[in-house]
Amino acid sequence: MTGEYVAAIDQGTTSSRCIVFDRAGGIVAVAQREHRQIFPRPGWVEHDAEEIWANVERVVRDALADAGTGPDGLAAVGITNQRETTVVWDRATGRPVANAVVWQDTRTGPLLRELAESYGEERLRARTGLTLATYFAGPKLRWLLDNVDGLRERAERGEVLFGTMDSWLIWKLTGRHVTDVTNASRTMLMGLETLDWDPELLDALRIPAAMLPQIRSSAEVYGTAHGVLDGVPVASALGDQQAALFGQTCFQPGEAKCTYGTGSFLLLNTGASPVPSSHGLLTTVAYRIDGQPAAYALEGAIAVTGSLVQWLRDNLGLISSAAEVEELAATVDDNGGCYVVPAFSGLFAPHWRSDARGVIAGLTGYITKGHLARAALEASAWQTREVVDAMNADSDVALRRLRVDGGMTANGLLMQFLADVLAVPVVRSRITETTCLGAAYAAGLAVGFWPDLATLRAQWRSDAQWESRMDPAHRERELGRWRKAVARTLDWVD
Ligand code: G3P
Repeated sequence: MTGEYVAAIDQGTTSSRCIVFDRAGGIVAVAQREHRQIFPRPGWVEHDAEEIWANVERVVRDALADAGTGPDGLAAVGITNQRETTVVWDRATGRPVANAVVWQDTRTGPLLRELAESYGEERLRARTGLTLATYFAGPKLRWLLDNVDGLRERAERGEVLFGTMDSWLIWKLTGRHVTDVTNASRTMLMGLETLDWDPELLDALRIPAAMLPQIRSSAEVYGTAHGVLDGVPVASALGDQQAALFGQTCFQPGEAKCTYGTGSFLLLNTGASPVPSSHGLLTTVAYRIDGQPAAYALEGAIAVTGSLVQWLRDNLGLISSAAEVEELAATVDDNGGCYVVPAFSGLFAPHWRSDARGVIAGLTGYITKGHLARAALEASAWQTREVVDAMNADSDVALRRLRVDGGMTANGLLMQFLADVLAVPVVRSRITETTCLGAAYAAGLAVGFWPDLATLRAQWRSDAQWESRMDPAHRERELGRWRKAVARTLDWVD
């Protein structure tokens, strides 16, 4: 085996990045580029898959240059990605037929109401582990098939291909049309037990099988890259939240992490069998290493956390960089009675209401931008609390501590507040780029760069821990107010 490094490409909701790791799991180089968020109508969110591919090529080049190596310095590359975002492209020309429909997009609301009638929510949940929400890829694909001229006919003739971002990138890199089980588990088209496309679901959603990628494990060589990564084995794919679970080395049932990015996603490893949720969580595939059974997870998906901070920056101009939010929030002692519930894409777990719309509750003349910044940060913690409550209700063992990662965990004020409202210790991993690390780990395992999971686990380190300091009576009072604010978002139906 050649190559002293493993690279990971993280194609995320707001940016694409490439990180080069060494054998100790240390970061050697990072490159990142944001792409455009396209909002054609309220509730619609699109990405240009060509722009994303150009950014990916660029960040790979930049990261390799920064690491002082070429593709021959890499033993493998792994892919991780924003999940559910749906791309359809022309098999012959490689050009996307339309903008990608992003996971936050709510345009499939009417279609889901039809599906609830014709197919049934419980039946769908039993087969896929998912709830009937606008979040998932299958209905987005169906929307494209129904709305892009001639697309259905072309799909039936096998002229166009569907993929989530992992498939799009692997196809661009290697020419192979594949996806992995974790990404496929977010389509609403894969049987959670069979780990294969489910003919009954394809039929219910009217999806031509000819356009679907082959479902493979999360850690195996899918093909050899050409172009910017010429000769490098493409050896893993994991949805970004599953990759973070893997990067946090949560390999044992009962281990959980929460990643704070555009949204936040708490995943609990539940082991070799899927655990159904009755409290608004998703059952999903955590990972599958080639030749081994799949590991499953329970997931609490929160649509908007970091993107609320971006909204303060881009739409309100309250701050000029995301990092400034902590400084602004620290100008006040508390939220001043103000609560922000960012139901921009409806509310995800545990409410699953696509029709919910955001509110700022408790406004008085006393409220300053400092209070708003604080309330925006607190919203991430309260949303996590709701998900942890659901997780505790669904699983036999209560969560005893939470491993966290992602950009927002640099924010000490938020981490303290999180520990306060969860009433359990919050532990940050030394490498907060666990999403890339997880994809690199899976790719490295697939090519023998790392020998086994125990070796990866031994590399995990924490760099900070926060303990709860909040008075329990105060916590309960604040939780009650947060719940009242959430109730307002659910009333807001056109
Ligand atoms: O399911 C959506 C999730 O994968 C997006 O993650 O980190 O791009 O916000 P992120």
